[in-house]
Amino acid sequence: MTGQENGPNSEFVEGLQRVVGVDHVLTSDLSSYGTDWTGRFIGSPSVVVRPATTSEVSQVLQLCSKHNVAVVPQGGNTGLVGGTVADKGHVIVSTRRLNSLGPVDAVSQQISVGAGVTVEQVHEASKIHGLRYAVDFGARGSATIGGTIATNAGGINVLRFGSTRHQVVGIEAVLPNGDVIEHMAGLMKDNTGYDLASLMCGSEGTLGIVTAARLRLLPLHSTKTTVLLGCDSTQEVVNVVQGIRQQFDSLDAAELFYADGANLVAQAFNVAIPFTASVYLLLEFSADVDLASDIERHLVQSNFSGSSAVAQDEIGRSRLWRLREEHTAAISTHGVPHKFDVTVAVSDLSEFIGKTRQRIFETHADWTVFIFGHAADGNMHVNVLGPSATDELVDEVVLQVVGEFNGSISAEHGIGSAKKKWLSLSRSHNEIAMMKAIKGAIDPQGMMNPNTLFVT
Ligand code: FAD
Ligand code: MLT
Ligand code: ZN
Repeated sequence: MTGQENGPNSEFVEGLQRVVGVDHVLTSDLSSYGTDWTGRFIGSPSVVVRPATTSEVSQVLQLCSKHNVAVVPQGGNTGLVGGTVADKGHVIVSTRRLNSLGPVDAVSQQISVGAGVTVEQVHEASKIHGLRYAVDFGARGSATIGGTIATNAGGINVLRFGSTRHQVVGIEAVLPNGDVIEHMAGLMKDNTGYDLASLMCGSEGTLGIVTAARLRLLPLHSTKTTVLLGCDSTQEVVNVVQGIRQQFDSLDAAELFYADGANLVAQAFNVAIPFTASVYLLLEFSADVDLASDIERHLVQSNFSGSSAVAQDEIGRSRLWRLREEHTAAISTHGVPHKFDVTVAVSDLSEFIGKTRQRIFETHADWTVFIFGHAADGNMHVNVLGPSATDELVDEVVLQVVGEFNGSISAEHGIGSAKKKWLSLSRSHNEIAMMKAIKGAIDPQGMMNPNTLFVT
Protein backbone atom coordinates (compact mmCIF):
# COMPACT_ATOMS: atom_id res chain seq x y z
CA MET A 1 0.00 0.00 0.00
CA THR A 2 1.36 3.40 -0.90
CA GLY A 3 -1.62 5.30 -2.22
CA GLN A 4 0.34 8.23 -3.60
CA GLU A 5 3.05 6.78 -5.86
CA ASN A 6 2.97 9.96 -7.97
CA GLY A 7 3.65 12.15 -4.98
CA PRO A 8 1.36 13.45 -2.30
CA ASN A 9 -1.92 14.94 -3.45
CA SER A 10 -2.61 18.47 -2.32
CA GLU A 11 -5.77 17.65 -0.39
CA PHE A 12 -3.79 15.17 1.73
CA VAL A 13 -0.89 17.56 2.35
CA GLU A 14 -3.24 20.40 3.25
CA GLY A 15 -5.00 18.06 5.67
CA LEU A 16 -1.66 17.28 7.37
CA GLN A 17 -0.84 20.99 7.50
CA ARG A 18 -4.13 21.72 9.22
CA VAL A 19 -3.25 19.13 11.90
CA VAL A 20 0.40 19.95 12.67
CA GLY A 21 0.94 23.37 11.10
CA VAL A 22 2.58 24.23 7.77
CA ASP A 23 6.10 24.28 9.24
CA HIS A 24 5.88 20.67 10.31
CA VAL A 25 4.89 19.12 6.98
CA LEU A 26 8.05 18.76 4.89
CA THR A 27 7.95 17.82 1.22
CA SER A 28 11.48 18.72 0.09
CA ASP A 29 15.08 18.24 1.34
CA LEU A 30 14.10 15.00 3.04
CA SER A 31 17.42 13.16 2.66
CA SER A 32 18.30 13.24 6.37
CA TYR A 33 15.04 11.41 7.05
CA GLY A 34 15.28 9.19 3.97
CA THR A 35 18.73 7.69 4.57
CA ASP A 36 19.60 5.44 7.49
CA TRP A 37 22.53 5.95 9.90
CA THR A 38 24.85 3.61 7.97
CA GLY A 39 24.06 5.06 4.56
CA ARG A 40 23.27 1.56 3.30
CA PHE A 41 19.49 2.00 3.13
CA ILE A 42 18.21 4.90 1.10
CA GLY A 43 14.49 5.60 0.80
CA SER A 44 12.53 8.29 -1.00
CA PRO A 45 9.73 9.47 1.28
CA SER A 46 7.30 11.99 -0.18
CA VAL A 47 6.36 13.72 3.04
CA VAL A 48 7.75 14.05 6.56
CA VAL A 49 5.21 15.08 9.17
CA ARG A 50 6.17 16.13 12.69
CA PRO A 51 3.30 15.96 15.17
CA ALA A 52 3.79 17.40 18.67
CA THR A 53 0.98 15.68 20.56
CA THR A 54 -0.74 12.31 20.73
CA SER A 55 -3.91 13.90 19.37
CA GLU A 56 -1.96 15.17 16.34
CA VAL A 57 -0.48 11.69 15.76
CA SER A 58 -4.01 10.28 15.89
CA GLN A 59 -5.33 12.79 13.36
CA VAL A 60 -2.31 12.20 11.08
CA LEU A 61 -2.92 8.45 11.08
CA GLN A 62 -6.63 8.95 10.41
CA LEU A 63 -5.74 11.05 7.38
CA CYS A 64 -3.20 8.49 6.14
CA SER A 65 -5.77 5.72 6.57
CA LYS A 66 -8.40 7.71 4.69
CA HIS A 67 -6.01 8.45 1.83
CA ASN A 68 -4.53 4.95 1.84
CA VAL A 69 -1.01 6.24 2.49
CA ALA A 70 1.69 4.05 4.04
CA VAL A 71 3.30 5.37 7.23
CA VAL A 72 6.88 4.91 8.41
CA PRO A 73 7.42 5.95 12.05
CA GLN A 74 10.81 7.48 12.75
CA GLY A 75 12.52 8.52 15.99
CA GLY A 76 16.24 9.31 16.07
CA ASN A 77 16.93 7.41 12.82
CA THR A 78 19.83 5.59 14.47
CA GLY A 79 18.44 2.16 13.60
CA LEU A 80 20.90 -0.04 11.72
CA VAL A 81 18.58 -2.39 9.80
CA GLY A 82 16.77 -0.16 7.31
CA GLY A 83 13.65 -0.03 9.46
CA THR A 84 12.79 3.52 8.51
CA VAL A 85 13.12 3.08 4.74
CA ALA A 86 10.19 4.84 3.09
CA ASP A 87 9.28 4.49 -0.57
CA LYS A 88 7.96 7.23 -2.81
CA GLY A 89 4.41 7.93 -1.68
CA HIS A 90 5.13 6.96 1.93
CA VAL A 91 4.87 9.40 4.80
CA ILE A 92 7.47 9.47 7.55
CA VAL A 93 5.95 10.38 10.90
CA SER A 94 8.79 11.83 12.94
CA THR A 95 8.21 11.52 16.68
CA ARG A 96 10.96 13.86 17.79
CA ARG A 97 8.55 16.63 18.86
CA LEU A 98 6.81 14.25 21.29
CA ASN A 99 9.37 15.36 23.82
CA SER A 100 7.60 15.74 27.16
CA LEU A 101 9.87 14.59 29.97
CA GLY A 102 8.95 13.50 33.47
CA PRO A 103 8.66 14.34 36.23
CA VAL A 104 10.54 11.51 37.93
CA ASP A 105 8.26 9.69 40.38
CA ALA A 106 10.78 8.88 43.11
CA VAL A 107 8.26 6.86 45.12
CA SER A 108 7.47 4.36 42.40
CA GLN A 109 10.89 4.83 40.75
CA GLN A 110 9.29 5.50 37.38
CA ILE A 111 9.15 8.25 34.77
CA SER A 112 6.65 9.00 32.00
CA VAL A 113 8.16 10.39 28.81
CA GLY A 114 7.14 11.24 25.27
CA ALA A 115 8.32 8.91 22.52
CA GLY A 116 10.71 11.53 21.10
CA VAL A 117 12.74 11.94 24.29
CA THR A 118 16.25 10.55 23.91
CA VAL A 119 17.72 7.79 26.07
CA GLU A 120 20.33 10.25 27.33
CA GLN A 121 17.65 12.73 28.43
CA VAL A 122 16.07 9.98 30.55
CA HIS A 123 19.51 9.20 32.05
CA GLU A 124 20.04 12.84 32.96
CA ALA A 125 16.57 13.33 34.44
CA SER A 126 16.88 10.15 36.54
CA LYS A 127 20.36 10.96 37.81
CA ILE A 128 19.16 14.13 39.55
CA HIS A 129 16.98 11.89 41.75
CA GLY A 130 19.69 9.29 42.47
CA LEU A 131 18.13 6.92 39.94
CA ARG A 132 19.18 5.44 36.63
CA TYR A 133 17.54 4.13 33.47
CA ALA A 134 18.89 0.69 32.64
CA VAL A 135 18.98 0.90 28.84
CA ASP A 136 22.24 2.33 27.57
CA PHE A 137 24.28 2.21 24.36
CA GLY A 138 26.47 4.33 22.11
CA ALA A 139 23.61 6.12 20.31
CA ARG A 140 22.09 7.32 23.62
CA GLY A 141 22.26 10.96 22.54
CA SER A 142 20.01 10.50 19.48
CA ALA A 143 18.04 7.27 19.90
CA THR A 144 14.53 7.96 21.16
CA ILE A 145 12.46 6.12 23.74
CA GLY A 146 9.87 5.33 21.04
CA GLY A 147 12.55 3.91 18.75
CA THR A 148 14.10 1.85 21.55
CA ILE A 149 10.67 0.41 22.40
CA ALA A 150 9.88 -0.29 18.75
CA THR A 151 13.19 -2.18 18.39
CA ASN A 152 13.27 -3.56 21.95
CA ALA A 153 16.79 -2.14 22.09
CA GLY A 154 19.41 -4.03 24.06
CA GLY A 155 22.73 -2.36 24.71
CA ILE A 156 25.43 -2.78 27.30
CA ASN A 157 23.41 -3.48 30.47
CA VAL A 158 21.15 -6.28 29.30
CA LEU A 159 23.05 -8.93 31.24
CA ARG A 160 22.07 -7.28 34.54
CA PHE A 161 18.76 -5.54 33.82
CA GLY A 162 17.27 -7.02 30.65
CA SER A 163 16.36 -5.26 27.40
CA THR A 164 13.99 -2.31 26.84
CA ARG A 165 10.97 -4.61 27.18
CA HIS A 166 11.89 -5.18 30.82
CA GLN A 167 11.90 -1.46 31.60
CA VAL A 168 8.55 -0.52 30.04
CA VAL A 169 5.80 -0.50 32.67
CA GLY A 170 3.24 1.49 30.71
CA ILE A 171 2.57 2.55 27.14
CA GLU A 172 0.58 5.00 25.06
CA ALA A 173 0.29 4.32 21.35
CA VAL A 174 -1.80 5.33 18.36
CA LEU A 175 -3.15 2.50 16.24
CA PRO A 176 -3.30 2.78 12.44
CA ASN A 177 -6.97 3.87 12.47
CA GLY A 178 -6.13 6.69 14.89
CA ASP A 179 -7.43 4.99 18.04
CA VAL A 180 -5.30 5.70 21.11
CA ILE A 181 -4.41 3.01 23.63
CA GLU A 182 -3.21 4.33 26.95
CA HIS A 183 -2.10 2.18 29.89
CA MET A 184 0.35 4.28 31.85
CA ALA A 185 -0.40 3.60 35.53
CA GLY A 186 2.82 1.58 35.87
CA LEU A 187 1.32 -0.82 38.40
CA MET A 188 3.79 -3.43 39.58
CA LYS A 189 1.13 -6.11 39.38
CA ASP A 190 -1.39 -5.98 36.57
CA ASN A 191 -2.60 -9.23 35.03
CA THR A 192 -5.57 -7.89 33.12
CA GLY A 193 -5.25 -9.62 29.79
CA TYR A 194 -2.70 -9.26 27.02
CA ASP A 195 0.45 -7.27 27.78
CA LEU A 196 0.07 -4.63 25.06
CA ALA A 197 3.18 -2.71 26.13
CA SER A 198 5.22 -5.84 25.57
CA LEU A 199 3.53 -6.41 22.21
CA MET A 200 4.61 -2.95 21.07
CA CYS A 201 8.19 -3.72 22.16
CA GLY A 202 9.98 -5.01 19.10
CA SER A 203 7.01 -4.31 16.79
CA GLU A 204 9.26 -2.06 14.64
CA GLY A 205 6.55 0.43 13.76
CA THR A 206 4.37 -2.23 12.12
CA LEU A 207 1.46 -2.03 14.59
CA GLY A 208 1.17 1.67 15.37
CA ILE A 209 3.08 4.62 16.74
CA VAL A 210 4.31 4.65 20.32
CA THR A 211 3.63 8.17 21.62
CA ALA A 212 4.66 7.85 25.28
CA ALA A 213 5.91 5.32 27.80
CA ARG A 214 6.26 4.86 31.52
CA LEU A 215 9.69 3.51 32.38
CA ARG A 216 11.10 1.66 35.34
CA LEU A 217 14.08 3.35 37.03
CA LEU A 218 16.67 1.78 39.30
CA PRO A 219 18.82 3.00 42.18
CA LEU A 220 21.98 4.74 40.99
CA HIS A 221 25.01 3.20 42.66
CA SER A 222 27.76 5.44 43.99
CA THR A 223 30.76 3.70 42.41
CA LYS A 224 31.44 2.52 38.89
CA THR A 225 34.48 0.42 38.17
CA THR A 226 35.56 -0.18 34.59
CA VAL A 227 38.15 -2.84 33.82
CA LEU A 228 39.84 -3.60 30.50
CA LEU A 229 41.41 -7.05 30.25
CA GLY A 230 43.67 -8.39 27.53
CA CYS A 231 42.89 -11.99 26.61
CA ASP A 232 44.48 -14.50 24.25
CA SER A 233 41.32 -15.97 22.76
CA THR A 234 37.55 -15.63 22.53
CA GLN A 235 37.20 -18.74 24.69
CA GLU A 236 39.28 -17.10 27.41
CA VAL A 237 36.88 -14.12 27.33
CA VAL A 238 33.92 -16.48 27.72
CA ASN A 239 35.60 -18.22 30.68
CA VAL A 240 36.52 -14.96 32.42
CA VAL A 241 32.97 -13.61 32.00
CA GLN A 242 31.51 -16.81 33.41
CA GLY A 243 33.73 -16.62 36.51
CA ILE A 244 33.03 -12.92 37.05
CA ARG A 245 29.25 -13.38 36.70
CA GLN A 246 29.24 -16.12 39.31
CA GLN A 247 31.10 -13.90 41.75
CA PHE A 248 29.74 -10.39 41.11
CA ASP A 249 26.05 -9.56 40.79
CA SER A 250 27.25 -5.97 40.40
CA LEU A 251 28.46 -6.66 36.83
CA ASP A 252 26.65 -4.25 34.47
CA ALA A 253 28.47 -4.88 31.20
CA ALA A 254 30.88 -7.33 29.56
CA GLU A 255 31.95 -6.17 26.12
CA LEU A 256 34.25 -7.93 23.71
CA PHE A 257 36.35 -6.56 20.86
CA TYR A 258 39.47 -7.57 18.96
CA ALA A 259 42.81 -5.91 18.23
CA ASP A 260 41.76 -5.00 14.67
CA GLY A 261 38.74 -3.03 15.92
CA ALA A 262 40.70 -1.36 18.72
CA ASN A 263 43.35 -0.25 16.22
CA LEU A 264 40.69 1.10 13.88
CA VAL A 265 39.17 3.19 16.70
CA ALA A 266 42.62 4.36 17.80
CA GLN A 267 43.45 5.55 14.27
CA ALA A 268 40.06 7.09 13.54
CA PHE A 269 39.61 9.00 16.79
CA ASN A 270 43.07 9.19 18.32
CA VAL A 271 42.11 7.06 21.31
CA ALA A 272 44.98 5.49 23.27
CA ILE A 273 45.05 1.69 23.67
CA PRO A 274 46.52 1.00 27.16
CA PHE A 275 48.14 -2.32 26.14
CA THR A 276 48.14 -4.73 23.23
CA ALA A 277 46.18 -7.98 23.23
CA SER A 278 44.44 -10.24 20.71
CA VAL A 279 41.03 -9.93 22.34
CA TYR A 280 39.82 -7.28 24.77
CA LEU A 281 37.18 -7.70 27.45
CA LEU A 282 35.71 -4.52 28.90
CA LEU A 283 33.88 -5.04 32.19
CA GLU A 284 31.83 -2.53 34.13
CA PHE A 285 30.57 -2.91 37.68
CA SER A 286 28.34 -0.61 39.69
CA ALA A 287 27.88 -0.86 43.45
CA ASP A 288 27.79 1.19 46.63
CA VAL A 289 31.17 -0.13 47.72
CA ASP A 290 34.59 0.05 46.11
CA LEU A 291 35.00 -3.23 44.23
CA ALA A 292 38.47 -2.71 42.74
CA SER A 293 40.35 -4.91 45.19
CA ASP A 294 37.70 -7.67 45.10
CA ILE A 295 37.90 -7.75 41.32
CA GLU A 296 41.70 -7.87 41.40
CA ARG A 297 41.63 -10.70 43.97
CA HIS A 298 39.16 -12.66 41.85
CA LEU A 299 41.34 -12.33 38.75
CA VAL A 300 44.43 -13.51 40.65
CA GLN A 301 42.57 -16.44 42.18
CA SER A 302 41.24 -17.49 38.79
CA ASN A 303 44.80 -17.38 37.36
CA PHE A 304 44.11 -14.57 34.92
CA SER A 305 47.56 -13.65 33.55
CA GLY A 306 46.80 -11.02 30.89
CA SER A 307 47.21 -7.25 31.03
CA SER A 308 44.61 -5.06 32.68
CA ALA A 309 43.64 -1.43 33.18
CA VAL A 310 41.19 -0.15 35.78
CA ALA A 311 39.36 3.17 35.93
CA GLN A 312 36.85 4.57 38.39
CA ASP A 313 36.84 8.26 37.53
CA GLU A 314 34.70 9.68 34.73
CA ILE A 315 37.59 10.56 32.39
CA GLY A 316 39.43 7.26 32.79
CA ARG A 317 36.26 5.20 32.33
CA SER A 318 35.23 7.14 29.27
CA ARG A 319 38.71 6.59 27.73
CA LEU A 320 38.26 2.83 28.09
CA TRP A 321 34.66 2.92 26.86
CA ARG A 322 35.55 4.91 23.75
CA LEU A 323 37.66 1.97 22.55
CA ARG A 324 34.50 -0.13 22.50
CA GLU A 325 31.75 2.36 21.71
CA GLU A 326 33.49 4.06 18.79
CA HIS A 327 33.67 0.80 16.82
CA THR A 328 30.45 1.61 14.94
CA ALA A 329 31.57 5.07 13.87
CA ALA A 330 35.16 3.96 13.15
CA ILE A 331 33.99 1.20 10.80
CA SER A 332 31.77 3.66 8.95
CA THR A 333 34.76 5.91 8.25
CA HIS A 334 36.00 3.13 5.93
CA GLY A 335 32.84 2.62 3.89
CA VAL A 336 29.26 1.42 4.14
CA PRO A 337 29.26 -1.80 6.14
CA HIS A 338 26.91 -4.76 6.12
CA LYS A 339 26.04 -5.07 9.79
CA PHE A 340 24.68 -8.03 11.72
CA ASP A 341 23.50 -8.18 15.34
CA VAL A 342 23.25 -11.87 16.01
CA THR A 343 23.06 -14.05 19.12
CA VAL A 344 24.24 -17.58 19.75
CA ALA A 345 24.55 -19.52 22.99
CA VAL A 346 27.52 -18.11 24.92
CA SER A 347 29.06 -21.57 25.03
CA ASP A 348 29.13 -21.53 21.18
CA LEU A 349 30.58 -18.03 20.87
CA SER A 350 34.15 -18.96 20.09
CA GLU A 351 33.25 -21.59 17.51
CA PHE A 352 30.61 -19.33 15.96
CA ILE A 353 33.04 -16.44 15.50
CA GLY A 354 35.66 -18.73 13.98
CA LYS A 355 33.17 -20.25 11.54
CA THR A 356 31.71 -16.87 10.58
CA ARG A 357 35.13 -15.43 9.78
CA GLN A 358 36.04 -18.55 7.79
CA ARG A 359 32.82 -18.55 5.70
CA ILE A 360 33.11 -14.86 4.90
CA PHE A 361 36.76 -15.35 3.90
CA GLU A 362 35.85 -18.35 1.69
CA THR A 363 33.14 -16.25 0.02
CA HIS A 364 35.38 -13.27 -0.64
CA ALA A 365 38.94 -13.15 0.64
CA ASP A 366 39.18 -9.36 0.20
CA TRP A 367 36.26 -8.39 2.38
CA THR A 368 37.20 -6.95 5.77
CA VAL A 369 35.47 -8.25 8.89
CA PHE A 370 35.19 -6.54 12.28
CA ILE A 371 33.50 -8.35 15.14
CA PHE A 372 32.64 -6.94 18.55
CA GLY A 373 29.73 -7.16 20.94
CA HIS A 374 28.08 -7.99 24.18
CA ALA A 375 29.97 -11.04 25.45
CA ALA A 376 27.67 -12.15 28.27
CA ASP A 377 24.58 -12.15 26.01
CA GLY A 378 26.21 -14.11 23.17
CA ASN A 379 25.32 -11.06 21.04
CA MET A 380 27.98 -10.32 18.44
CA HIS A 381 28.07 -7.53 15.90
CA VAL A 382 29.55 -8.81 12.67
CA ASN A 383 30.51 -5.96 10.33
CA VAL A 384 31.67 -6.54 6.79
CA LEU A 385 33.23 -3.91 4.56
CA GLY A 386 33.64 -4.64 0.86
CA PRO A 387 30.36 -5.82 -0.64
CA SER A 388 28.22 -3.16 -2.30
CA ALA A 389 25.18 -1.94 -0.36
CA THR A 390 22.77 -3.99 -2.47
CA ASP A 391 24.83 -7.20 -2.71
CA GLU A 392 23.19 -9.57 -0.20
CA LEU A 393 25.59 -12.50 -0.58
CA VAL A 394 27.37 -11.79 2.69
CA ASP A 395 24.02 -11.42 4.47
CA GLU A 396 23.07 -14.89 3.25
CA VAL A 397 26.43 -16.34 4.35
CA VAL A 398 26.46 -14.84 7.86
CA LEU A 399 22.80 -15.48 8.65
CA GLN A 400 23.04 -19.09 7.46
CA VAL A 401 25.89 -19.66 9.94
CA VAL A 402 23.67 -18.17 12.67
CA GLY A 403 20.93 -20.61 11.64
CA GLU A 404 23.37 -23.54 11.90
CA PHE A 405 24.04 -22.53 15.53
CA ASN A 406 20.30 -22.16 16.30
CA GLY A 407 20.99 -18.52 16.96
CA SER A 408 18.90 -15.41 16.46
CA ILE A 409 19.37 -13.34 13.30
CA SER A 410 18.57 -10.26 15.39
CA ALA A 411 19.72 -9.90 18.97
CA GLU A 412 18.80 -6.26 19.40
CA HIS A 413 18.47 -4.13 16.24
CA GLY A 414 15.36 -5.80 14.83
CA ILE A 415 14.61 -7.25 11.41
CA GLY A 416 13.92 -3.99 9.56
CA SER A 417 14.02 -4.21 5.78
CA ALA A 418 17.54 -5.69 5.95
CA LYS A 419 16.78 -9.15 7.32
CA LYS A 420 13.13 -9.87 6.53
CA LYS A 421 14.09 -12.46 3.89
CA TRP A 422 15.78 -14.51 6.59
CA LEU A 423 13.15 -14.29 9.35
CA SER A 424 12.35 -17.99 8.96
CA LEU A 425 15.89 -18.88 10.09
CA SER A 426 14.91 -17.76 13.60
CA ARG A 427 11.09 -18.08 13.63
CA SER A 428 8.89 -21.06 12.71
CA HIS A 429 6.16 -21.01 10.09
CA ASN A 430 3.51 -20.99 12.82
CA GLU A 431 5.16 -18.17 14.73
CA ILE A 432 5.33 -16.01 11.59
CA ALA A 433 1.69 -16.84 10.81
CA MET A 434 0.67 -15.73 14.31
CA MET A 435 2.65 -12.49 13.97
CA LYS A 436 0.98 -11.81 10.60
CA ALA A 437 -2.45 -12.52 12.12
CA ILE A 438 -1.78 -9.94 14.85
CA LYS A 439 -0.56 -7.46 12.25
CA GLY A 440 -3.65 -8.11 10.08
CA ALA A 441 -6.02 -7.57 13.00
CA ILE A 442 -4.47 -4.27 14.09
CA ASP A 443 -3.48 -2.94 10.68
CA PRO A 444 -5.91 -4.45 8.13
CA GLN A 445 -4.90 -1.90 5.46
CA GLY A 446 -1.21 -2.88 5.85
CA MET A 447 -0.32 0.79 6.15
CA MET A 448 2.25 0.66 8.98
CA ASN A 449 5.90 0.36 7.95
CA PRO A 450 5.27 -1.94 4.98
CA ASN A 451 8.96 -2.48 4.11
CA THR A 452 9.78 -3.83 7.55
CA LEU A 453 9.69 -7.25 9.25
CA PHE A 454 7.70 -9.29 6.73
CA VAL A 455 8.27 -10.05 3.07
CA THR A 456 4.96 -9.03 1.50
P1 FAD B 1 14.68 4.81 14.51
O1 FAD B 1 15.98 4.44 13.90
O2 FAD B 1 14.12 6.11 14.13
O3 FAD B 1 13.61 3.66 14.19
C1 FAD B 1 13.91 2.32 14.43
C2 FAD B 1 12.64 1.48 14.20
O4 FAD B 1 11.64 1.81 15.15
C3 FAD B 1 11.99 1.70 12.85
O5 FAD B 1 11.39 0.50 12.44
C4 FAD B 1 10.90 2.74 13.13
O6 FAD B 1 9.83 2.67 12.22
C5 FAD B 1 10.46 2.34 14.52
N1 FAD B 1 10.02 3.45 15.37
C6 FAD B 1 10.76 4.53 15.77
N2 FAD B 1 10.04 5.29 16.61
C7 FAD B 1 8.84 4.69 16.74
C8 FAD B 1 7.66 4.99 17.49
N3 FAD B 1 7.58 6.07 18.29
N4 FAD B 1 6.60 4.16 17.39
C9 FAD B 1 6.66 3.06 16.61
N5 FAD B 1 7.75 2.72 15.87
C10 FAD B 1 8.81 3.53 15.95
N6 FAD B 1 20.84 -0.79 19.36
C11 FAD B 1 20.82 -1.68 20.38
O7 FAD B 1 19.80 -2.36 20.58
N7 FAD B 1 21.92 -1.85 21.17
C12 FAD B 1 23.05 -1.14 20.99
O8 FAD B 1 24.03 -1.36 21.69
C13 FAD B 1 23.07 -0.17 19.96
N8 FAD B 1 24.16 0.61 19.77
C14 FAD B 1 24.16 1.52 18.77
C15 FAD B 1 25.29 2.33 18.59
C16 FAD B 1 25.33 3.26 17.56
C17 FAD B 1 26.54 4.14 17.41
C18 FAD B 1 24.22 3.38 16.68
C19 FAD B 1 24.24 4.38 15.56
C20 FAD B 1 23.11 2.59 16.84
C21 FAD B 1 23.06 1.65 17.89
N9 FAD B 1 21.94 0.84 18.10
C22 FAD B 1 21.92 -0.03 19.14
C23 FAD B 1 20.81 0.89 17.15
C24 FAD B 1 19.73 1.97 17.43
O9 FAD B 1 20.25 3.05 18.15
C25 FAD B 1 18.54 1.35 18.17
O10 FAD B 1 17.91 0.41 17.33
C26 FAD B 1 17.50 2.37 18.64
O11 FAD B 1 16.53 1.69 19.38
C27 FAD B 1 16.82 3.12 17.52
O12 FAD B 1 16.14 4.24 18.07
P2 FAD B 1 15.70 5.45 17.10
O13 FAD B 1 14.91 6.41 17.90
O14 FAD B 1 16.88 6.00 16.42
O15 FAD B 1 14.75 4.69 16.09
C1 MLT C 1 26.81 -1.70 19.60
O1 MLT C 1 26.66 -2.59 20.45
O2 MLT C 1 27.75 -0.89 19.64
C2 MLT C 1 25.83 -1.64 18.53
O3 MLT C 1 24.70 -2.38 18.65
C3 MLT C 1 26.08 -0.87 17.31
C4 MLT C 1 26.59 -1.69 16.16
O4 MLT C 1 26.16 -2.82 15.96
O5 MLT C 1 27.42 -1.16 15.42
ZN1 ZN D 1 24.97 -3.81 20.40
